[in-house]
Amino acid sequence: MLFDFTILRDCGDFNTTSDSNIEEDDSADGVSEEEDGDREDGGEGNSEEEEEDDVIFFMFLETLTSLKVTDEPPCFSNLKCVLFFGGAIHESHATSFKVKKASMIAFLSSLLIFSFFSFGTSLTSNYYQKSCPAAESLIRKSVFDATKSDKTAPAGLLRMHFHDCFIRGCDGSVLLNSKGKNTAEKDGPPNLSLHAFYVIDNAKKAVESVCPGVVSCADILALAARDAVVVSGGPSWDVPKGRKDGRISKASETTQLPAPTFNISQLQQSFSQRSLSLEDLAALSGGHTLGFSHCSSFNNRIHNFNSTTDIDPSLNPSFAASLRRVCPVKNNAKKAGVAMDPSSATFDNIYYKLILQQRVVFSSDSALLSSPKTRSLVSKFASSKDAFFKAFVKSMIKMSSITGGQEIRKDCRVVN
Ligand code: HEM
Repeated sequence: MLFDFTILRDCGDFNTTSDSNIEEDDSADGVSEEEDGDREDGGEGNSEEEEEDDVIFFMFLETLTSLKVTDEPPCFSNLKCVLFFGGAIHESHATSFKVKKASMIAFLSSLLIFSFFSFGTSLTSNYYQKSCPAAESLIRKSVFDATKSDKTAPAGLLRMHFHDCFIRGCDGSVLLNSKGKNTAEKDGPPNLSLHAFYVIDNAKKAVESVCPGVVSCADILALAARDAVVVSGGPSWDVPKGRKDGRISKASETTQLPAPTFNISQLQQSFSQRSLSLEDLAALSGGHTLGFSHCSSFNNRIHNFNSTTDIDPSLNPSFAASLRRVCPVKNNAKKAGVAMDPSSATFDNIYYKLILQQRVVFSSDSALLSSPKTRSLVSKFASSKDAFFKAFVKSMIKMSSITGGQEIRKDCRVVN
């Protein structure tokens, strides 16, 4: 039996509210459509209003075109896509002057989502070669030292980096503490179970002592996530560096993180909003070869699944029974949960074998079987650790190249 034990961990709880929050996002789009409807009701005769919209629209495009576009691979660059579409709309406007407000508003809304992210902004492998050559080894030492006494640290760091990148890009916003009236990302429901922040603090201290004000917290986290994979027996890779730290961190934005209850189309949407593909989804989900999950993250699958069945039929029955023993419907200890896979401190491809056996904890893990593309990748990664490692490295570099910050923080928990 795989999970016939209860593990207690001193972490917060995951509140699976993101699903509904995604709906909120959708409804936000809906608002745009409604607004559009209102304007159309206003009739085409309202040319002053239309002209004003056009001016705002083109000012916005102009601002965008003045932004720097790097020469990184085009598929990484949302900004390029934005400019491309911007150009196309500009052209169509020039010929017909009949750009519908509906399209403009929908276009502007997607720009707002995408404008949080940019890809590959001047990141390079040798970024600190001259300014802080010791940075990488000091960070590695902090991760390796922490792991000696805290076997859970690597999983914490890998997940922390993922959560950082998915909100405002990899800008260290997840590291900031709440202050005054501002509740930071860290204190948003999905992040309450994040841990190992002390490893980043230690690494930052070590790096600051030799080259103060040079290495960003966002880069430290990206490097620490790579080292977390390495110390767990996974692959290594060159981490592109040069990220800047962000100054904004809002708990309310953690609703943008994918939830464990997501189905494949919700996952695909969440990833594609960050220019990450189904291949990236399948490979990065392999991060679940490490770590632990609280009962609250998968309770929906083992109690009251729907009106006709108590247990998610896509779960292996004996696995579901073992999960129910650890997480009974009543008297469920808040800290109870299970290891993500039996070798949860080792970075390997067992997670994919478990998906095929329907022995994975989250609906989002099982969902990888529900599209032909991800299903075939799951089979491929289950039969080849090498193929998984290669794909994981490629997708990690892609995910961790979503940038977004402005400064080099002195203290990773506080803006300058
Ligand atoms: C695809 C969408 C994803 C969803 C819905 C998801 C969801 C979750 C949830 C609910 C947990 C358990 C939290 C808890 O109960 O404490 C978890 C843990 C974890 N996730 Fe994900 N995750 C996703 C993708 C990723 C990615 C891309 C990575 C990294 C590449 C990752 C790495 C981890 C790790 C390492 C843990 C264990 C953390 C620990 O033990 O502290 N996850 N994830």
